[in-house]
Amino acid sequence: MRITVPTGDAEVDLSRVDLFDPELYATGDPHPIWHALRRHAPAHHQRLADGREFWSVTRHADACRVLADHTEFTSQRGTLLNALGRGDPAGGQMMAATDPPRHTSMREPLARELSPHRLNQRRHLLTRAVRQALAPARDGDVWDLAVAAAGFPMSFTGALMGIPEADWPRLTRATTMAIAPDDTEFQEGDSHITLVGVHHELFDYFSSEVTRRRTEPSDDLIGFLTRMRPDGGPLRHDAIVYNCYSLLLGANVTTPHVLTALICAFLEHPDEFRRLKADPGLIAPAVEEGLRWSSPANHFMRYARTDVTIADQRIRRGTAVAVWLGSANRDEAVFANPYRFDIGRRTERHLAFGYGPHFCVGASLARIALRMLLTEFVALVDDIEPAGPVRHLKSNFVAGISHLPIRTRRAGRPAAS
Ligand code: HEM
Repeated sequence: MRITVPTGDAEVDLSRVDLFDPELYATGDPHPIWHALRRHAPAHHQRLADGREFWSVTRHADACRVLADHTEFTSQRGTLLNALGRGDPAGGQMMAATDPPRHTSMREPLARELSPHRLNQRRHLLTRAVRQALAPARDGDVWDLAVAAAGFPMSFTGALMGIPEADWPRLTRATTMAIAPDDTEFQEGDSHITLVGVHHELFDYFSSEVTRRRTEPSDDLIGFLTRMRPDGGPLRHDAIVYNCYSLLLGANVTTPHVLTALICAFLEHPDEFRRLKADPGLIAPAVEEGLRWSSPANHFMRYARTDVTIADQRIRRGTAVAVWLGSANRDEAVFANPYRFDIGRRTERHLAFGYGPHFCVGASLARIALRMLLTEFVALVDDIEPAGPVRHLKSNFVAGISHLPIRTRRAGRPAAS
């Protein structure tokens, strides 16, 4: 998704807003639309051609309310627009699609397993993943940062989950297919066939992995899920499979887009890159600004459990409400000068990892990984130049870049001529 600075609301016709259309995020620009919606229609209703309908919220305060209050808004009927109105077979089984209190008892042990303390014991996996991702950064060569970054989360989450390395490239592609089935680069058949096919493939894959852990117990994350006893009993086989899918998808489809968005922003604001190089203390805030700036998880959805009122609009029980995180992260009421890329800004309230009970359980992992990756990038690279067209992912769920050709000059070495 392009990241732009809206100049005004005049050109946005609110009666024609279509936030569902994946094309908007590939070749269009949602930022002026979100800007206008926050001002003039903070709760916006949209009906699709086939009759399905949903509300959109774009302000930070409304986003927090919808994401946090599970008594008003449920996750159990699905949390992504691509399944709008179809229900979610993983509801009540997959943590992300389960409401408290069941959600809490599933989440607590997993959150401990993904805590900074536990992750520090496996830091070597991250070090290796960082080296692999940045291996193509050779002097003067053109390389596609988006392609290199795409495999990055797989090489640490895959390792944590105990997934054989030979399967990493296919699983990287498969997880992107699952979130961008409309993107021709990631299609295998039409979008419907792509989505159904890849879901089968991933669920079959994890089903075999889970079965393997029953005869070959291991201390990886999949093994951990098989041993978990939320509410005193084991998870069902399909619940473990859904949670494996959710963990891998959660990591793979989001993390790379923080790095690519940061590098795009540095290309536009080289002064910020120089500032970062001069002060390594800015790595952590730069990652947080990268999270706010990119907001890779573009939306999450809930269904209203009762009739509710948001921004003076009555939302009927059972209706879907999509929360646009990229918009909330540019809400002027919370972020001063929200369209300014500033690696030193205070970003504590950004919603890139969500808010409330479903706040990303992989946030510590993503933060540690991104800080290590950016530290290494800054140490390796003195100069970055654009070297070809940027391609944006066609997806209403993930705001990301699929191709970002760049030329980098490595620190301490002259540019190749
Ligand atoms: C920059 C990277 C990441 C971003 C931007 C991100 C974003 C998010 C967001 C916005 C949610 C909230 C979903 C909701 O409210 O319904 C979430 C939840 C989740 N994320 Fe992440 N995520 C990232 C990395 C990861 C990683 C590395 C993992 C795996 C280790 C992961 C696994 C999950 C899971 C399993 C949930 C569901 C949590 C729950 O329901 O309690 N994510 N993520």
